[in-house]
Amino acid sequence: MTQNISLTRYLVEQQRVDGLIPSQLRLLLEVVARSCKSISHAVNKGALGGVLGAAESENVQGEIQKKLDIIANEVLIEANEWGGHLAAMASEEMEDIYVVPNRYPQGEYLLLFDPLDGSSNIDVNVSIGTIFSVLKKPDGDAAVGEADFLQAGQHQVAAGYCVYGPQTTLVLTVGNGVAMFTLDREQGSFVLTQENVQIPPDTQEFAINMSNMRHWDTPVQRYVADCLQGADGPRGKDFNMRWIASMVADVHRILTRGGVFLYPWDKREPGKPGKLRLMYEANPMGWLIEQAGGAATTGTQRILDLTPSKLHERVSVILGSKNEVAHIGSYFSKL
Ligand code: AHG
Ligand code: MN
Ligand code: MN
Repeated sequence: MTQNISLTRYLVEQQRVDGLIPSQLRLLLEVVARSCKSISHAVNKGALGGVLGAAESENVQGEIQKKLDIIANEVLIEANEWGGHLAAMASEEMEDIYVVPNRYPQGEYLLLFDPLDGSSNIDVNVSIGTIFSVLKKPDGDAAVGEADFLQAGQHQVAAGYCVYGPQTTLVLTVGNGVAMFTLDREQGSFVLTQENVQIPPDTQEFAINMSNMRHWDTPVQRYVADCLQGADGPRGKDFNMRWIASMVADVHRILTRGGVFLYPWDKREPGKPGKLRLMYEANPMGWLIEQAGGAATTGTQRILDLTPSKLHERVSVILGSKNEVAHIGSYFSKL
């Protein structure tokens, strides 16, 4: 384990030694981390803090918001609007982009987030998290608008998530591999606990919501059917299954010990390309997974190559151990 390197020191070194991050981006990441710390405290208090339960409102996705969805969204907005590092923000919980108010200086970055991922797990004390993605505002003097956000995931300059589980862990990439930081509550800071995270290329573990089986497309049906046949089937090995229903927690397991995660397009809502959102779920997770040697696709296309046409665009997601994701892709090309 790396001893006592705080997130602050890690970021300073990335800036100073490797020249990877400008000071404004460093400040931005510090503020996001501070927000996650504050969300982590709210999550920890649970019923004692009055943060559990529904909020009696719906978000743009038509989902009932939980109190913590709204609290986490407010924490992130309030912490990030005044520092001068951002031009605008976008969130799962807000229909439109949030432009930094005139009373504050405008910076050159755009921040996107899923403030609280895994909302169905809030009230049952199962791991949840925050996912974020950072883009640069395209050059030009024009006022910032939604079109500035519509960049392919390969243009992200930083991405990460914070998982609020038995430990609070912040996972980050600035394009130089993946680093993990554990929140030390006594020190009040994130401490580097793993660097250069690597996902094993092969796996015997898949994550998918099996209750949707009858709605899946043929390639996904065939892939899972082959896995379920285990050592006697075409894969020649037994598979284990996990589904936490918090993408952050499923991705964290995959970064830790390998595996594949699938939330594919299905026939429940055929007009929608998938359930998960491209810009603040699939893109940041896809980049982290690639930075750790894994792969992230829709089944037929690399996620980071997709150019979004709207802020809350949805996408089919298949990510994790590189060889297994490629193998799943072969079922799509057989069609
Ligand atoms: P969110 O709570 O931000 O809306 O995201 C929930 C997502 C994702 O975290 C998880 O993998 C998936 O929805 C779970 O969906 P099902 O309940 O359909 O399994
Ligand atoms: Mn989510
Ligand atoms: Mn969410």
